[in-house]
Amino acid sequence: MNMLFWKALATALAVLPIASAITPEELLAAPRRSDLSPNPPGEIGIFSSTNYSWESHKAHTVWNTVNLTTGEISLLYNGSEISEIVWVGPTNTSILYINGTNEEDDGGISIYGGDITALDEAYLIASLPAPYSGLKAVATSSGDVNFLVNALAWPNGTAYNEALVEQPLSTARIYDSIYVRHWDTWLTERKYAVFAGTLTGGDKYSFSGNLTNLVSAISNVTRAESPVQPFGDSGDYDISPDGTTVAFLTKNIDLPLANYTSSQIYLVPHNGSSKAVPINGFSGPSTPPNAQGASAQPHFSPDGSKIAYFQQDGISYESDKNKVYVANVDSENFNITVLAENWDSTPDQVSWSVDGTSLFVAAPDLGNERIFEIPLSAQADFKPANLTDSGVVASYYVLPDGNLLVSDSKIWSSRDFYIISPDGALVTDLFHANQVDPELAGLGPDDVSEFYTQGSFTQVQSWLIFPKGFDPSKKYPLAFIVHGGPQGGHYNSWSTRWNFKVWADQGYVVVAPNPTGSTGWGTAFQDAIQNNWGGYPYEDLVAVWEYVDSHLDYVDTENGIEAGASYGGYMTNWIQGHDLGRKFKALVTHDGATNIVAQIGTEELWFTQHEMNGTLWDNRDNYERWNPINYIHNWATPHFVVHNSLDYRLPESEGIALFNILQERGIPSKFLSFPDENHWVLNRENSLVWHREIFDWINHYSGISG
Ligand SMILES: *[C@@H]1O[C@H](CO)[C@@H](O)[C@H](O)[C@H]1NC(C)=O
Ligand SMILES: *[C@@H]1O[C@H](CO)[C@@H](O)[C@H](O)[C@H]1NC(C)=O
Ligand SMILES: *[C@@H]1O[C@H](CO)[C@@H](O)[C@H](O)[C@H]1NC(C)=O
Ligand SMILES: *[C@@H]1O[C@H](CO)[C@@H](O)[C@H](O)[C@H]1NC(C)=O
Ligand SMILES: *[C@@H]1O[C@H](CO)[C@@H](O)[C@H](O)[C@H]1NC(C)=O
Ligand SMILES: *[C@@H]1O[C@H](CO)[C@@H](O)[C@H](O)[C@H]1NC(C)=O
Ligand SMILES: *[C@@H]1O[C@H](CO)[C@@H](O)[C@H](O)[C@H]1NC(C)=O
Ligand SMILES: *[C@@H]1O[C@H](CO)[C@@H](O)[C@H](O)[C@H]1NC(C)=O
Ligand SMILES: *[C@@H]1O[C@H](CO)[C@@H](O)[C@H](O)[C@H]1NC(C)=O
Ligand SMILES: *[C@@H]1O[C@H](CO)[C@@H](O)[C@H](O)[C@H]1NC(C)=O
Ligand SMILES: *[C@@H]1O[C@H](CO)[C@@H](O)[C@H](O)[C@H]1NC(C)=O
Ligand SMILES: *[C@@H]1O[C@H](CO)[C@@H](O)[C@H](O)[C@H]1NC(C)=O
Repeated sequence: MNMLFWKALATALAVLPIASAITPEELLAAPRRSDLSPNPPGEIGIFSSTNYSWESHKAHTVWNTVNLTTGEISLLYNGSEISEIVWVGPTNTSILYINGTNEEDDGGISIYGGDITALDEAYLIASLPAPYSGLKAVATSSGDVNFLVNALAWPNGTAYNEALVEQPLSTARIYDSIYVRHWDTWLTERKYAVFAGTLTGGDKYSFSGNLTNLVSAISNVTRAESPVQPFGDSGDYDISPDGTTVAFLTKNIDLPLANYTSSQIYLVPHNGSSKAVPINGFSGPSTPPNAQGASAQPHFSPDGSKIAYFQQDGISYESDKNKVYVANVDSENFNITVLAENWDSTPDQVSWSVDGTSLFVAAPDLGNERIFEIPLSAQADFKPANLTDSGVVASYYVLPDGNLLVSDSKIWSSRDFYIISPDGALVTDLFHANQVDPELAGLGPDDVSEFYTQGSFTQVQSWLIFPKGFDPSKKYPLAFIVHGGPQGGHYNSWSTRWNFKVWADQGYVVVAPNPTGSTGWGTAFQDAIQNNWGGYPYEDLVAVWEYVDSHLDYVDTENGIEAGASYGGYMTNWIQGHDLGRKFKALVTHDGATNIVAQIGTEELWFTQHEMNGTLWDNRDNYERWNPINYIHNWATPHFVVHNSLDYRLPESEGIALFNILQERGIPSKFLSFPDENHWVLNRENSLVWHREIFDWINHYSGISG
């Protein structure tokens, strides 16, 4: 018997959860809060909160301040115009904000200056004639403010404003190299760029109107682009604390974009007086020889002399391990050091300590995203200790007193704010969404447990989520949910798309396993999925199912359902063709892969070529071995299929193929598609239909409803 599990279950059962159910409507209406960003002395924080009304069918955003000593929350702004706020300026309460409207230029934005103690006295500083976003700003010694924003730009460097562009007479798209589309967008000659500007100081800031594009001039095989699309944001660039220097991330300009993951960090003067140069180009003076892969998260040290960042070794593996690097950038003896190189973890967030002698990084760790401290003196074998435990850290800021202001979420809370000391002790507990939002009332850690069981070659962790009013002497149908990635995981975080508690509260016990390929249990476990898509992970899922069947009396496996998206959709299709498929009453595939051979039609070619360990033409056997479509003759279980039109990662023909086969073979099946959604369903009205249709389907087959 697994002791860890029984211990966790005992804890979970010590206090029986009070009745609490969260419906899809509540999930989608409930406030979605940004992270909490502290002012320079660390006394006040700001966050935004967006909720949705099913009466007006509109989202509404407010901005709040938080007293970081007491946790007291005050309303700062209630309206639709402010999209971003940054702390900068002459006083500790000065801010700049982006007003998403612009009186002079349709499609532009404006920058305002003000003070949170008198927001209604804020004044217009700059009208910018394009939809810039991602504001970062620092005060310089002269009293000016140097800032950065980003926007899509023409090849000549001018920012692109769709509202002002005349539509061409023909809609033709013509390409002569790979990467014709990405995520949900057909690619054009326009690329994102970072723009620099200076607000001149005085009583009130003013702006000359001069914005310098720091990125577009850098080109070779391709033109530089920053932030890197589709998920890049202001975390892809940074400005030195004195405002003189900018670091930005771009994909490698010497390589085709669709089949390499390589990216580099460039340094450039904020005033654009000289051309940007890479700090970790392949042939740099001290670039680690193996570091050729994707870079991330450039962060200047407090004194501006160094940049911390991550880089992977593999040139075409997007989930290779992120190694932690520190580049000395202010000296003639430019050099790069790798920290804690043998730490078996892949961190993805970084901040500097106040004195610049260590880094706080965050990494997926055993189903959570935890913070760790790594001193700059760390040798290769240094193993950092975790400072946080439960939850997925969304952001953290190091305060002037050395403590960390953390924003995270958990399976039972959409947003928590708290302050910890550098050794992980709780200093100030500020906010828990589940104690405030009526939609989340009653949710808590007692709704969740976890267990480990022996998988294909090592222990496999699974989350267990209990339904409203859970009574272990009763039985609840199993909802078995397989995650995407496959390098990724089911984490202890709040999701607005696959919210475990919303699924459980339909009347299921949710089991969310982290099989081979999952991130947070070491690189060997993660990397073992290569050329093994239906192998180890499938065996792990079978082992988890059998464990649930034989150990958890309150789970009704006879009437269970299985669901998954992306790789989880691939796995659902694989399960349909294998024995595990017969254990479920219904299956749900969201934007999955039906025919792996057809993955040559995806956008990020490196992905399938790494996962199948070769190209379609040289390694066709690997593609066929793991191809769900080769097991059609076994398909038998009722199957709900979702596939969206703007999904260019797994094109919608994958879902249509799946549905066509199911229908022609007479297997009960249903197809749902949103023409305006990508790999994810983001629009709340669409998401409500998604939930309603899927729940109607699984609840029917599991016997929860007629
Ligand atoms: C926070 O609240 C305390 C207690 O009310 C007060 O003394 C302090 O001034 C507040 N801090 C700020 C920054 O408003
Ligand atoms: C949305 O939030 C606003 C401001 O916090 C609040 O006044 C309103 O009642 C909320 N609406 C819903 C539907 O929760
Ligand atoms: C914000 O303004 C709206 C009207 O635009 C109002 O319904 C709502 O109650 C206000 N929210 C708060 C928190 O004051
Ligand atoms: C900002 O706050 C710190 C700490 O409270 C204080 O020492 C400093 O004088 C303040 N700066 C300004 C410009 O008010
Ligand atoms: C935003 O800009 C508009 C003009 O485009 C102005 O009327 C409005 O007052 C501004 N709102 C804020 C909060 O600055
Ligand atoms: C840059 O190119 C765009 C699109 O061709 C054009 O509209 C714009 O005027 C150009 N800007 C400059 C400064 O030449
Ligand atoms: C605008 O910036 C460019 C590039 O730094 C510079 O050459 C030019 O003199 C600036 N123009 C104004 C009006 O400041
Ligand atoms: C441009 O890219 C090619 C690779 O295609 C590389 O060999 C060459 O060195 C690059 N040129 C420059 C100036 O970096
Ligand atoms: C990537 O594609 C280019 C052509 O676009 C080709 O020359 C190169 O060999 C490919 N590299 C890999 C690793 O597939
Ligand atoms: C890197 O450069 C810094 C600054 O010049 C120097 O202090 C440090 O010793 C150098 N480190 C290595 C490993 O050479
Ligand atoms: C570190 O993680 C362990 C579980 O792996 C947990 O028991 C411990 O409390 C965490 N440490 C801190 C400081 O949160
Ligand atoms: C991938 O291919 C290489 C080269 O053929 C081979 O050495 C390696 O074992 C393969 N890895 C996997 C996981 O199949």
